[in-house]
Order: sequence, then C-alpha cells, then structure tokens
Amino acid sequence: MTTYLEDGDALDGLEFLSMSEAGELAHWKIVEKLNDKAGDPDIGRLVEFAVPVQQQHVASVADQALELAADEDPDEES
Ligand SMILES: [Fe+2]
Repeated sequence: MTTYLEDGDALDGLEFLSMSEAGELAHWKIVEKLNDKAGDPDIGRLVEFAVPVQQQHVASVADQALELAADEDPDEES
C-alpha cells in the first residue's frame, strides 16, 4: 500500500484502487453464488444492490486509470 499510495503518483493510486475494487466485486459475486443455494431473500436483495454498485466502481476506476495512462510518458522514470 505504501508503494502505491505514499510513494506513487495518481496512476499508481488508481492501480491500487483497481485491485481493491476488483476484490470487493469478487466478494459480492461469491456472496451471490452462496446465496444461490441458501436462498435468503434479504441477502438476495443486498446482492442485487451491491453487485451493480461494485461493477460500476471497477469500471469507473479502470476508466480513470486508462485516461491517466493515456497521458503518461512510457519512457519516464517512475
Ligand atoms: Fe467499491
């Protein structure tokens, strides 16, 4: 975390955030899969809310990271 957030630039921070958001999405997809068998309606409603939110987080972070990456100098020392 220190490498990405304290020693890095904005793109490094977004790379770190992309890993966090991907992990959150994976967590909710696992909860969704487990609830396929459990069939708890409260968990089902929570999953229906959380999965699209997390998918949007993943997409937003990727979009922002790619926008910054497009402006990066690939030959610049990091
Ligand atoms: Fe998130």
